[in-house]
Amino acid sequence: MVIKYLLCRKCSTEFRADLKYVCDECFNPLDVIYDFDKIKLTKDIIKNREKNLWRYFELLPLKNKNNIVDIGAGYTPLHKADKLAKKLGLNNLYIKNDTVNPSFSFKDRPAGVAVSKSLELGLEAVGSPSTGNLASATAAHAARAGIPCYIFIPYDIEQAKISQVQTYGANIIPVNGTYDDANRLASYAGDKYNIGIVNINLRTYYVEGSKTLAFEVCEQLDWNAPDHVIVPTGSGAMLCAIERGLKEFDRINLIKNNKTRITSAQPKGCSPIVDAIKNKSNSIHPVKKPNTLAKSLAIGEPGDGIFAVETVNNSGGYGENANDEEIREAIRLLASTEGIFAEPGGAVSIAVLLKLVNDGKIDANEKIVCYVTGNGLKAPEAAFIHQPELKVVEPKREVLQDIIGR
Ligand SMILES: Cc1ncc(COP(=O)(O)O)c(C=O)c1O
Ligand SMILES: [Zn+2]
Repeated sequence: MVIKYLLCRKCSTEFRADLKYVCDECFNPLDVIYDFDKIKLTKDIIKNREKNLWRYFELLPLKNKNNIVDIGAGYTPLHKADKLAKKLGLNNLYIKNDTVNPSFSFKDRPAGVAVSKSLELGLEAVGSPSTGNLASATAAHAARAGIPCYIFIPYDIEQAKISQVQTYGANIIPVNGTYDDANRLASYAGDKYNIGIVNINLRTYYVEGSKTLAFEVCEQLDWNAPDHVIVPTGSGAMLCAIERGLKEFDRINLIKNNKTRITSAQPKGCSPIVDAIKNKSNSIHPVKKPNTLAKSLAIGEPGDGIFAVETVNNSGGYGENANDEEIREAIRLLASTEGIFAEPGGAVSIAVLLKLVNDGKIDANEKIVCYVTGNGLKAPEAAFIHQPELKVVEPKREVLQDIIGR
């Protein structure tokens, strides 16, 4: 047991590691604090473990390995994107390809940790408000754990995501409103019915799962921190977790000289975090009516918004946004150069990379990692638009000469 306590991010009050997510004194979020002196984690120990996110068990908030709910999330490829890099005049570009997680987004990481923790805390049901990806990740892990799952979604998210959640057997509650409305209803359900809402009352534990995005990248870069990461951002939780992951690896000497710049990438139709960074503001102006192709990032009131702004600024990174057309173009470019098919929310990091390169903000030799966090088949409508119309042909050999041209 290496968790010491939960610590308030603002006023530093300490709490026991129970089902607790906000500080009683100042209502700010709580973070898990580990007993780093007791953590005996070496490169060799990690290398010999199974290739999933649980290989970093000592840095995850579970007491007992028997509570792990595992569907094989994590240890996704770090893809050296040489063809795309060449197009952009870069020499060291990597894609962290989290489109290939079991439910096809990075959300399997935090949801896997939160559903496991819910078993450890003796909860009998789980759920989440979601823009779609967390819904599937929670539902898939609940199915594996054999416990009921309640999913709150804005009614108008992509059909593929809704079908996926239903297939895992979750109870789905489409809300006539935005993500923020779904969030408030889920929060009430968690309190009233004692449900573990993974990104609300289990949030302290949930966010820990996304640290593995940083751990894996460092391990895959042969125990080196990247120079710069570009992170698709909604609530800001993943971005903050990546920073904590880098710090913790540094703290236990698995990497040295962590000076990674962290850049936040958001869609233009909903970019409250990026707007605050660009305006050098210390507060977030909520976006009342998000309007973007990247529905998974349509979070107008980001829970970790202000912390994400601080994290980016302290790291020397940038905030940048991309409009729908730029995101579509990035999806096409990534698929056609590197064979990776991303959803809009996942590809916004590539769209932002293109903008930073055009603005001369990227050094050709920096070791840069773009997180690509969701699979294109979850939002196929996005890629279908503007595709050339196909002509059906007779199954005759003669037709090929016209098509292939020789
Ligand atoms: C594909 C994808 N990428 C990135 C994010 C952003 O994560 P966070 O809300 O932790 O900032 C989400 C959130 O739903 C997502 O679905
Ligand atoms: Zn506090």
